[in-house]
Amino acid sequence: MSNGQELLELSPVVPVVVVDDAADAAPVARALLAGGIRVIELTLRTPAALEAIEQVASAVPGIVIGAGTVTTPEQAKQATDAGAKFLVTPGCTDRLLEAVSGTGLPFLPGAGTVSEAMRLAEQGLTAMKFFPAEPSGGVAFLKAIAGPLPRLRFCPTGGITVGSAPSYLALPTVGCVGGSWLTPKDALAAKDFDRITALAKEAAALG
Ligand code: 3PG
Repeated sequence: MSNGQELLELSPVVPVVVVDDAADAAPVARALLAGGIRVIELTLRTPAALEAIEQVASAVPGIVIGAGTVTTPEQAKQATDAGAKFLVTPGCTDRLLEAVSGTGLPFLPGAGTVSEAMRLAEQGLTAMKFFPAEPSGGVAFLKAIAGPLPRLRFCPTGGITVGSAPSYLALPTVGCVGGSWLTPKDALAAKDFDRITALAKEAAALG
């Protein structure tokens, strides 16, 4: 895997996962794989996140593990050291962009406006996360900017559901969507990994 464009082709849906207990990470990854989803974005939002990435990287080789919610240069390095195979940022500052590029990993930088997307394109980055997708204009926004910016491709994330995902995936500028609906908090709390597999199957079928 060498660039962000390839990340857009891994799966119609990239599950955005928040774990409070690192021990849940490998079972969640296996449950997603069993449902046909072979990528996982583990967000750096909890103290357990880095250990969770390490566990998935070492115990579940069949899934491509990435780190999400990378907001600082330090986190970019920590996630890389933990074994992340790609990085996702919700937005982009110059320092963060330099740090994520410096890791050598493929990454999806976040953009939520036309100017943010254009700034990334100026750096040669044509694959990005569109975040937060629904509050930023959703499908209508992406349709509108495909005219002036047809070369850019997106992973819209934020407020997307299994119901709204198909309207995003139908756009030529969308490679995949991201969402947390595959790993609901209550399913994680109950360690209901079968439910996660069922949600993953439904999401994988959107491809
Ligand atoms: C993210 O970080 O990408 C989003 O919080 C995921 O958004 P969702 O919870 O609305 O799917």
